Amino acid sequence: MARSSHPAHDLHEGLHRFEDAATGLRGVIAIHSTALGPAAGGCRMWAYPNPQMMMNDALRLAQGMSFKNALAGLPLGGGKAVIQRPAGDFDRRRLFAAFGRAVQSLGGDYVTAEDVGTGVADMEAVRGETRFVAGLPPQGGRPGGDPSPWTALGVKLAIEAALKWRHGRGLDGATVAVQGLGAVGRDLCRRLHEAGARLVVADLDEARVAQVARLYGARAVAPDAIHAVPVDVFAPCALGGGLGERVVESLGSAIVCGAANNQLASVHDARRLLERGVTYCPDYVVNAGGIINVAAEYLGQGVAEVEAAVAAIPGRLQQILARADHERLPAGTVADQLARQTIADAGRRNAA
Ligand code: NAI
Repeated sequence: MARSSHPAHDLHEGLHRFEDAATGLRGVIAIHSTALGPAAGGCRMWAYPNPQMMMNDALRLAQGMSFKNALAGLPLGGGKAVIQRPAGDFDRRRLFAAFGRAVQSLGGDYVTAEDVGTGVADMEAVRGETRFVAGLPPQGGRPGGDPSPWTALGVKLAIEAALKWRHGRGLDGATVAVQGLGAVGRDLCRRLHEAGARLVVADLDEARVAQVARLYGARAVAPDAIHAVPVDVFAPCALGGGLGERVVESLGSAIVCGAANNQLASVHDARRLLERGVTYCPDYVVNAGGIINVAAEYLGQGVAEVEAAVAAIPGRLQQILARADHERLPAGTVADQLARQTIADAGRRNAA
């Protein structure tokens, strides 16, 4: 196993490249910060067109995890692993065992879990080589397993908080447009329906739309029209990057609050939303329920700790929205500032 380390970016603590010729493993672990605790973040496997794009993805995602973990109040820093998906057939178990050895070689500075392109079975292979891994099947009623119900709960609480902050009202009788009816979107629809909200939904998968329409009386619209429907809240729960110029210009709601990661297509869209008077709830503040659940598994905490940490999401969101309003800044900018401050304060405490 070859491993080389070099500082990659002034804001990152390190970028660790690893290769294992025997299994075809090739990838990097980016560590953004360990000021608050071990750098935690999932392992993504993807067919990157070139090594530079793989590295950039690792650096960007590691910083995102740092900010998300800091604002979720977790004793964890931020990091991310990315693996170049081997061309053709490969022995998945052996490859992830080799990745486990790479994680182990960092001595606990980085803790891995599933992400896009990796799953529970892969993390079980990693677990054979290192204890610095989460996202394994839950044991005896303890936190762990599927994070999406916790993500959906956090998003529901955030939508409630945003409605209260912007319109002084609750969910009962409000209309929410949910884009994407996957693991998070479907559970979010159930929770919103139970709280008395009316639903407008869209998904590329017609069977999912039909199911949610039947269960919760949701009105179905075309996937390319859902953002423009006049509603109280637009909740993006599909893929990231959906809030681009065209979508922002035709938004039908004054609040955007959903689970999708990296919702803004570019930094300019944060300004566009602000100028249009839209209350944008920063995605990584709103969707932290999943990482809170994974963190509790790794830290050996119980369900009560997960519930308490998820229950803190709406208060934190309202604090960010209020400050953004006061300072006339995009809410995402304020969230980033708070996250940086939290990490810097921890760094100073560690150094003292
Ligand atoms: P998923 O893969 O289960 O569901 C995504 C759904 O979006 C699918 O039903 C898909 O057909 C639909 N979709 C894709 N493109 C669409 C489009 N253009 N219009 C309408 N529907 C579309 O994903 P999951 O787990 O529900 O996650 C949803 C989002 O939340 C993702 O962006 C994910 O990164 C993010 N997220 C998820 C967490 C979790 O706990 N699962 C935690 C934090 C963020």
